[in-house]
Amino acid sequence: MRLPSTTRRSFFKQMGAGGALAYTGYPALLNATPLPSTEADTEQATRAKRMQWWHKAKFGMFVHWGLYSLIGQHEWALEIEGIPIAQYELLARHFQPKPNAAREWARLARQAGQKYMVMTTKHHEGFCMFDTRLTDYSAAKQGPGRDLVREFVEAARAEGLRVGFYYSLMDWHHPDGARCASDEAARKRFVAYTHGLVRELMTNYGKIDILWYDVDWPLKPEQWESEHMNQMVFELQPGIIVNNRNGLAGDFATPEQEIRASEEGRAWESCMTLNESWGFNRGDDAWKTPKTIVRNLIKCVRGGGNYLLNIGPKPDGSIPEESVRILEAVGQWTSGNGAAIYGAQGGELSWGVNTDYTRKGNKLYVHVYNWPSDTPAVQWMPIFQTATVVALGGLQTKVKAVRLLKSGEPVTFTQEEYTVRFTGLPKMPPDNPATVLEVECEGEPVLDHEAPRAHWPRLKTGISS
Ligand code: GLC
Repeated sequence: MRLPSTTRRSFFKQMGAGGALAYTGYPALLNATPLPSTEADTEQATRAKRMQWWHKAKFGMFVHWGLYSLIGQHEWALEIEGIPIAQYELLARHFQPKPNAAREWARLARQAGQKYMVMTTKHHEGFCMFDTRLTDYSAAKQGPGRDLVREFVEAARAEGLRVGFYYSLMDWHHPDGARCASDEAARKRFVAYTHGLVRELMTNYGKIDILWYDVDWPLKPEQWESEHMNQMVFELQPGIIVNNRNGLAGDFATPEQEIRASEEGRAWESCMTLNESWGFNRGDDAWKTPKTIVRNLIKCVRGGGNYLLNIGPKPDGSIPEESVRILEAVGQWTSGNGAAIYGAQGGELSWGVNTDYTRKGNKLYVHVYNWPSDTPAVQWMPIFQTATVVALGGLQTKVKAVRLLKSGEPVTFTQEEYTVRFTGLPKMPPDNPATVLEVECEGEPVLDHEAPRAHWPRLKTGISS
C-alpha cells in the first residue's frame, strides 16, 4: 500500500520520535535498489515471492553455539582474551554435547511463537558445527563425533519451523583467514575454502530457508567473490533468502542490538540477545524482561521488520534457565495474540506512550503495556471520570467494533472526530505483558496523533468545567 505523501512524511517524523523506525510495506520490496549483475536482477525479481513467508513469520530464534560455549565467556573469548589457537583447539576434543539438544531449542522456539531458527554453523572461531570434507576442525571429526547442524535442521523441521544457517566469513582459526588480505595465493585458497563450505551447507541438508552471513573481515566483496557466492547459493537453493553481511545488499538488512528500520522498500530483521551476549556467558545476568521482548517484537512489526532473538546454549546444548523462563512467558503472550503479530504490519501507524500499534487489513491492534488506572489522579476532570479508559488521539478511521483479542470479550467505546475512547475495561490488565484490543475499522486504520494538532480547538473550547 502506498501512503499519500503527507501521511508518509508525518510517519517518518513520528518514527524518528518513536524509535527510529521507518515504513517498509511488502509490495514496496519489489522496488528495492537494483543490484548490478544479471543474477542479482533475477534475485531481485524473485525476492517478493521468496520472502513472503518471512514477512509473515516476524519472529525467529537465533542460536549461538560453538566451542566458545565451553568457556562460557561470550563468543569472542578467543580474540578478546587472546587465547592461543593451540589451546583453543583443545576445546574441540572436550566438546561433548548431549544428543539432540536442538530438539529442546526447537520446542522452545515453537512455544515462544518463533517461526524460524538460525544457527551458527561456523562462528568467528572457525570451528565447523557440521560434517565437512574440507577440514577436520568440525563437530563430526572432533569431540561430538556427529553433525550438529544436521541435528538442528531435523529438530527445526520436526517442530514445523523454517531453517536458517549463520555463517561467519571471518575466521580466526584458518591459516589463510588473515593473510588472505595481502597474499593473493592465500586469498584464492581461503575463498575456495569459504565457497566450498557454503556449497556443502547448501547441498547436504535439503531445503534451507535463510543464509545469514556474518563479518566479512578482512576482504572486500570483490575479493570474497560475493556475487559469485550468492549466485552459487541461489542455484543450489532457489527459494532461499540471504542477508547483507557478505558485503552485498542481499535480501534484507540486519540491524544488531537495536530496532532500526531500513530505507523504504528494504526488508530488515533486528537481531538481539536475551542478555548481552550471543554465546553462553555465565557471568552475564543482564536479562531482558518478557515485557521488553514483547514490546520489541511489536515495535519490529510496526516498523515492517522481523525480530531474531538469540539463545546461547550451554556446552551440553541445554538452554540457560533464564532464557527458558523468558521465552515461555513470551510464548504465553504470542499464543493468544498472534493475530496482531504474524502477517501484521504498521505502516502509517503512530507510536504511542502506554500503547503500541500494529494492523492487518481493516483491523487496528492496540497493544496496551501500561494499563490505565481506574482511579486517575485527576478524577475531578470530567474526561477522567469514567473508570479504566484507553484513549487514542488521531485515529482517522471510523470504528465498527472492539474486543479484547485474547478472550474475544467485547469492549465498549465512544468515538469523536479525533479521539476514540475504549471504556468499560476491567480494572486489572486482562493479559500480560500487554493487553491487545482488536479494533475493527471501516477501512484501513489511519492513526496519527499529530494529525489533529493543527485543527484541534484551542483555548477553552470543548472543556466544560
Ligand atoms: C556480531 C558479532 C557476533 C555475532 C553477531 C550476531 O557480528 O561479532 O559475535 O554473532 O554479531 O549478529
